Amino acid sequence: MEIHRYETLWFGASLLLIVGFIGTITYGAVGVGIEMVNDDGGTVDPDNLSDHERFGDTGVHQINETHYEVNMIAVHPSFIPADIEIPEDSTVTFYLTASDVTHGFNIAGTNVNSMIIPGQITELTAEFDETGEFGYVCNEYCGSLHHEMAGTISVVPQEEFDMIELSGDVPDSVPTNETLTLNASVTNNEFKTIDRTVTVNIGDRTLEESMTVESSKTNEVSVTVDPAALGTGEYDWRIEIDNHVEKGQVTVEEPDASGGRS
Ligand code: CUA
Repeated sequence: MEIHRYETLWFGASLLLIVGFIGTITYGAVGVGIEMVNDDGGTVDPDNLSDHERFGDTGVHQINETHYEVNMIAVHPSFIPADIEIPEDSTVTFYLTASDVTHGFNIAGTNVNSMIIPGQITELTAEFDETGEFGYVCNEYCGSLHHEMAGTISVVPQEEFDMIELSGDVPDSVPTNETLTLNASVTNNEFKTIDRTVTVNIGDRTLEESMTVESSKTNEVSVTVDPAALGTGEYDWRIEIDNHVEKGQVTVEEPDASGGRS
């Protein structure tokens, strides 16, 4: 049977197209590191996330010198936590879950992109070699404020990064016949024990206390000052560890005027 030249040509061209289509689909599915959402990350009860070992403790956790884990919950219309900070040259594994409806997680300009499904833990690993700000968004329609579901990953220089949290506890006022206690609470989220000096300033006095905090622990130091020696008036206080600062004011009052501590 004689096949017309044009018919052979069209046949060849359409065969080429079909092969081309299959090729692009295959590449799109597996060629650029795309994985389907699966339950490899495990499952979780979306109604009891606060009891979960991971999602009861959201945020950034250091695993070793260069590896960090981020536990994050998507709940309309935000991510918890929304803005995170990590150091450059780090590998970050994200553990994500949703507590209400299906959300998405897409770091702009990267191939980090996944659905976040209630009841499932999505695990994603990305490397951050350069400093800068990476925005991420929810790219799965999830409700009226879907467009507001976004956050930032700040990649900062190694020397500017630490995982220490400081909180200061100082009363607003103290009578001269009591003791003024300035309390500093330091949480160490680094993977190793830290030894630091806490500097406390009150009025023109500077007091220093050294402290050791084990990994994943919180430790407190207190310094006491005799308010009578300061005299009545308002005093600025400041508690400092590394580049973390807490400050405020305390009023030293006559015993009668205070009527006890506020
Ligand atoms: Cu969450 Cu859209």
